[in-house]
Amino acid sequence: MSKKPWNNKPCNDEPCLPYARPSITQAERDTVLAVLEDANGTLTQGAWLLEFEKNVAQAVRAEHAVACANATAALHLALLAAGVGRDDRVLTPSISFCATANVVRHCNAVPVFADIDEQTLALAPSSAIEAAEKMLAARTPVKAILPVWMGGGADARNAAELLQLKDDLNCLLIEDAAHALGSCYYQEQQQQQQQPVGCGAYADISVFSFHPVKPVTSAEGGVAVTNDARLAQRMRKLRNHGIERDEAKFQAPQHQEKREERGYEHYEMIELGFNYRLSELHAALGAAQMKRLQPLREKRRALAEHYDALFDRSSLIDCLQPLQRGLRACSAHHLYIVALDWKAFGMKRRSCMLALQRRGIRTQVHYIPIHHHPYYRQRDKDDKLVNCEQPVSLANSERYAERTLSLPLFADMQKSDVEKVVKTLEELRQIP
Ligand SMILES: Cc1ncc(COP(=O)(O)O)c(C=O)c1O
Repeated sequence: MSKKPWNNKPCNDEPCLPYARPSITQAERDTVLAVLEDANGTLTQGAWLLEFEKNVAQAVRAEHAVACANATAALHLALLAAGVGRDDRVLTPSISFCATANVVRHCNAVPVFADIDEQTLALAPSSAIEAAEKMLAARTPVKAILPVWMGGGADARNAAELLQLKDDLNCLLIEDAAHALGSCYYQEQQQQQQQPVGCGAYADISVFSFHPVKPVTSAEGGVAVTNDARLAQRMRKLRNHGIERDEAKFQAPQHQEKREERGYEHYEMIELGFNYRLSELHAALGAAQMKRLQPLREKRRALAEHYDALFDRSSLIDCLQPLQRGLRACSAHHLYIVALDWKAFGMKRRSCMLALQRRGIRTQVHYIPIHHHPYYRQRDKDDKLVNCEQPVSLANSERYAERTLSLPLFADMQKSDVEKVVKTLEELRQIP
C-alpha cells in the first residue's frame, strides 16, 4: 500500500481518513492539461510561471515572488541571497521539518537551534536572544534568523520581537512560512489592520511550500517573496544556473564588443547557481489553486473550530489539549495539532497511532526535533557537534515533541470526519 500521507485506500476494511489530502477541482486538472495541449506553448519558464508568481505576490502583498522547484530550493536561494556562507551561524528552531536546517548546511553554514514558545510553537524570542548572545561571546555571530510558522499560525508579537533581534544583530530574517500561505500575523488588538505573512512587515524574505499536503499545492513547488528587488533578482539568477541575460551586466569583453552583430540571444554564467526552476505544469496548477486560497482556508478553519468545540466538551479534556488555539483567527490551518499526556491517556503515542489507523484514521507527528536526527547528532573526536550548535536549553521543544500529535485536517474533510476522530480517541482512551 502506498505510504502517501493523503492515501485514502483502506487502512483496514474501511476507506482511510488521511491526515492531509490536496483538493483538486476538474477545472484545475483542465488547466494543467491545457498546458500540455498548447502546441505553441512552452513547458518551462513561460507565462504560467509569471502568472503563478503574480498570484502569490498579490495574495500576500509582496512586491516580488520567485517560484522554485520546491520550498527547500527557495529557502536555499533565500539564504544565499542573504549572503549566508561557510561557517556562518543561522538561528532556527529544532521543531520543524529537517529541510529548514538542511538548507543552512547546503550553504556550508551551521544551524544554531533555539527553543520554541509553548503557546505559539514558534521560535521563542527569549531563547533566540540567549542563543545569539552565546554565539557572539564565542565569536561566531549569527548571520541570519530563520523562524518557522508551525502549522500555519503566526503571531505578531513573536514576529516583532524577532524583528528587533534581527535589527540588533544587523542580519537578515528569512521566514520559513512553508505552512503559512494565506495566514496573517495574529494581533491581540484585532482592530489593527491584518498583515498577511509574506508582506515583508517582519521578514526580508518569506518562503511558502506548495507540496501536496500544504494549504494549496502545485504538486511540488516553493515560492520566496520579498520587497527587496536586489534579493529577488539574485534569487532569480541563482535559480537558473547563475546565468545573466542582461547584456549591460556581461563581464567578458568579447561579448560586449560583438553585441550588435550577434544573431542569437547570448548569456553569461556569472556565478555557480542551480536548476531550481518550476515547470509550467506545476506553475499552472499553482496559479489555478491560488484562486481558492481563502475559500480553502475557510473550510479548514471551520473544521479546526469544530474540533475545538468537540474537545471542549469531551471526556478527554484532562489529557488532550488542542494547541495554538489563540492563533485560530489568523492561521492558515495547515495542521491541527494536539498535545497529549500519554500517561493520563493510558496508551503510548505509537500504540494510539496504530489503533487509530486500524480504525481508519491516519495521524502524523510534526515533528521529530531536527537535533534528534542522526546527522545533527554527529560529534567529532572532542565530542563537539559537527553539523549544528545547541547553545541553549531545548526543554520546550523536547516536551512538545513527546506530546504532539497531528489529527486529520484538509479542506475536503467533512464535519462528520472530525466527529469520528474525536469519538475514536475517546473510545481508545484507557482509564485505569
Ligand atoms: C516547515 C517546512 N519547511 C520547509 C519544507 C520544505 O518544503 P518542500 O517540500 O516544498 O521543499 C517543509 C515541507 O514539508 C516544511 O514543513
